[in-house]
Amino acid sequence: MSEDKKGYLSAGNQKKVTTHRLQEMKQHGEKISMLTAYDYSMASVIDQAGIDVILVGDSASNVMAGNTTTLPITVDQMIYHGKSVMNGVKRAMVVVDMPFGSYQGNPYEAVTNAVRMMKETQADCLKLEGGKEVIESIRAILHAGIPVMGHLGLMPQSINKYGTYAVRAKEEDEAGKLLEDARMLQKVGCCAIVLEKIPAELAGKVTAELVVPTIGIGAGPYVDGQVLVMQDMLGLNKGFSPRFLRRYADLFGVVTSAVQQYVQDVKSSGFPSAEESY
Ligand code: KIV
Repeated sequence: MSEDKKGYLSAGNQKKVTTHRLQEMKQHGEKISMLTAYDYSMASVIDQAGIDVILVGDSASNVMAGNTTTLPITVDQMIYHGKSVMNGVKRAMVVVDMPFGSYQGNPYEAVTNAVRMMKETQADCLKLEGGKEVIESIRAILHAGIPVMGHLGLMPQSINKYGTYAVRAKEEDEAGKLLEDARMLQKVGCCAIVLEKIPAELAGKVTAELVVPTIGIGAGPYVDGQVLVMQDMLGLNKGFSPRFLRRYADLFGVVTSAVQQYVQDVKSSGFPSAEESY
């Protein structure tokens, strides 16, 4: 990594996406694209395809490990995924989720976990769910010089409290609290805020008021960027079809046909051929 005349970090001829760049994008009205990735191979593909931000989400718990919630994933497992992604990325900003239980307690433990995650993954930023309730942990992590991305609205680590994955903040009370939390996250110094599954109008209101970028998932169009879980947008996860999800490919179909063809070729001794042998 080197620095050009304007002080931008660059890898080869590619300008690295940084927290500063996200701020510029908001100021210039340039939308931020973000996708999740959990491994080296997929991270390299989406980085060279031009994604701005890669989120090593704790959704790895669902997507990679097959758990029904994000709660079981550990700091060690997030570090493994974060490091794998970092090995494949040159340009995108890489954000790693702090897992459930690693920051909700005392701020000292939160900083200890955050420092370890940054040292061992070499990621660019960490993401934490919550507002007022976890603000002291967020403040302490920021004081350690670690960039933090906030996450409000539907917070999957709190699924057992909600009891449902329905849209959040439809009522005035919860919408008001979300706005207050967003202001608080901006005030302490978060570099961006993910808004998950909330009414488009509320997301637009938060986005218009804040100077830090908002990145939506199921939060409508009036935000500064969009994020999707990669396996969902590539059509690998057939059983998950929320209204906000747009499928850009049918990888389930592509992989199924390729594997069926391979099985047939092996069974019929059609693979390998003489040219594929030594
Ligand atoms: O873990 C994750 O994938 C996330 C996104 C849904 C924003 O937090």
